[in-house]
Amino acid sequence: MPSKIHNKPKTKARQKKSQRYSLPKDSFAFISEGQTAYSKEKPFIVYYDDPKRSIKLLKGDCIKILNQAGENSVDMIFADPPYFLSNGGITCHAGKMVSVNKGKWDKSRGVEENHKFSLEWLKACQRVLKPDGTIWVSGTTHIIYSVGFAMQELGYKILNDIIWYKRNAPPNLSCRYFTHSTEIVLWAAKNEKSKHYFNYQLMKKFNNGKQMRNVWQISTPLAEEKKFGKHPTQKPVELLTRIILASTKENDLVMDPFCGSSTTGVASILLNRKYVGIDFEEEYLHL
Ligand SMILES: C[S@@+](CC[C@H](N)C(=O)[O-])C[C@H]1O[C@@H](n2cnc3c(N)ncnc32)[C@H](O)[C@@H]1O
Repeated sequence: MPSKIHNKPKTKARQKKSQRYSLPKDSFAFISEGQTAYSKEKPFIVYYDDPKRSIKLLKGDCIKILNQAGENSVDMIFADPPYFLSNGGITCHAGKMVSVNKGKWDKSRGVEENHKFSLEWLKACQRVLKPDGTIWVSGTTHIIYSVGFAMQELGYKILNDIIWYKRNAPPNLSCRYFTHSTEIVLWAAKNEKSKHYFNYQLMKKFNNGKQMRNVWQISTPLAEEKKFGKHPTQKPVELLTRIILASTKENDLVMDPFCGSSTTGVASILLNRKYVGIDFEEEYLHL
């Protein structure tokens, strides 16, 4: 009986699918040790590895790592790239005036260089995404238009722009602008041919039986999400939970190329998804 099944001639549909792309046998082979994709010097250090739960944290430059990782291996990417807003300005934190600077990695390199960077990492992500895989990218005005334009240039299919509304956003101290209280999260499929996964029914259920809209009201991270230390641009677990539930199934592989404190990893573990997080700062991986 089993041999019959194995010898079964491929149907046209099956043939077409296998010609379209070659999936790695083990989806977690994306970045496994000793993988043949690493023909050159290994561009990362495995900072944390939990093979039982298929969780990995890699320390290194995400572009170098992704350019050598297995093609068509990731189901979903969440990326929270540098905002490029650390320009010496001020902001308000816990009622006090504080510097807006997040770190060296967040210094603007100028509009053109910033856009080159967007193109480079988005291209690297597109290569590792499965044909029907999707990517979510969050950002503020400083970078999100470059990300959107780069996505269009690379042939991604933009599915939605989510407006993340932060009810508890800090006030604007200068009183010369409206209070910044939103971030945009772009959701896109690998290309026009992608048949992306969307858990429509679950999202509707979360929204009391009505179609979920693209404005999401979610508070900035809760105090308990920072009990092991915090990242200057940490995302709330609630945001990542919704994103993962909307666009992946259990055991799918989720990857975050700018993982910081790995909010994406925490939500992936809670929801039974495999996870690879990349960051070049050890201090953040430690969180
Ligand atoms: C906006 S933060 C991400 C925060 C994260 N979403 C969280 O919830 O903690 C961007 C992160 O990208 C990292 N980063 C910037 N450029 C990178 C690169 N080329 N390769 C790897 N990591 C990078 C920074 O160290 C920083 O932690």
